[in-house]
Amino acid sequence: MNDIASVVAPTSAASALRVIAVMNQKGGVGKTTTAVNLGAAMARLGRRVLMIDLDPQAHMTLHMGIDPTQLETSVYHVLTDDDVPVSDAVRIIHDGLAVLPSEVNLAGVETELAPKMVTGLAQRVLRAKLAPYLRGPQAPEVIVIDCPPSLGLLTINALTLAREVIVPMQAHFLALQGLGKLLETVALVRQAFNPDLTVSGVVLCMHESQTLLAGEVVADLTQFLEQGRQQDVPWRRAQLLAPPIRRNIKLAECPSFGKTIFDYAPACAGAQDYQQLAQSVLAMPQDAAS
Ligand SMILES: Nc1ncnc2c1ncn2[C@@H]1O[C@H](COP(=O)(O)OP(=O)(O)O)[C@@H](O)[C@H]1O
Ligand SMILES: [Mg+2]
Repeated sequence: MNDIASVVAPTSAASALRVIAVMNQKGGVGKTTTAVNLGAAMARLGRRVLMIDLDPQAHMTLHMGIDPTQLETSVYHVLTDDDVPVSDAVRIIHDGLAVLPSEVNLAGVETELAPKMVTGLAQRVLRAKLAPYLRGPQAPEVIVIDCPPSLGLLTINALTLAREVIVPMQAHFLALQGLGKLLETVALVRQAFNPDLTVSGVVLCMHESQTLLAGEVVADLTQFLEQGRQQDVPWRRAQLLAPPIRRNIKLAECPSFGKTIFDYAPACAGAQDYQQLAQSVLAMPQDAAS
């Protein structure tokens, strides 16, 4: 079977490929910041990491120092042209860290792939295209996908490839609004295309723990996750991931320098938080994850 199932399916907990979709249909919640710096932190911990930018805004691509207007091949070509393999579009940042970059044309993919929706091919194209790469010499140990701020076909492609979902969110008024729809999408993709998909957890971004409001939102979220424990839902094991990512100006500055937080300000609170988050995500048990 020309599929990644054989690669993703763990033969042992330690050797399993981790495929993490960083997802929230709201914009500005910390998806790109989390995908970039979580991926970079895992690379610092010795994992071979592939980051995939699935947002036509190409913020992850820019954040990694790549100009999306100058690309000959990007994830757009991978998704729309059978003759472009993933290896043609991947950019190596350094040994152990690579990016499959995005560009503005990616916005047209939903229309271009629409005819293949009925057969389910459109929803599985990223997964199918990645399969040979995962058997090749550059095969990563961790894939981190930056999703666009929507629940459309690109996000569905991310969820069909992923094994787990991490949801960045801000502990704001109405933070939980939209979470139901997000989880419903995860459940639908699990049912239709990807029985192994689970939600690993929620990461609080731009966090200000001392505020009363943040405390209330955290309490609501904890209660919501507890309610899922007894049900057969993909978020049955979802955790409030630790630590929360504190609001830190360096995290907001580093994208414009095309650097991860570890290259821009390795000693700052933001670098510490993402390094610890990477450790706790890598330490999560992977057996019987669903
Ligand atoms: N912990 C943080 N502290 C300060 N600014 C942050 C933090 N996380 C993200 N930001 C900034 O907030 C904005 C939105 O974050 P981003 O990761 O781009 O969200 P999304 O990808 O969900 O749209 C960006 O300008 C980013 O630099
Ligand atoms: Mg983004």
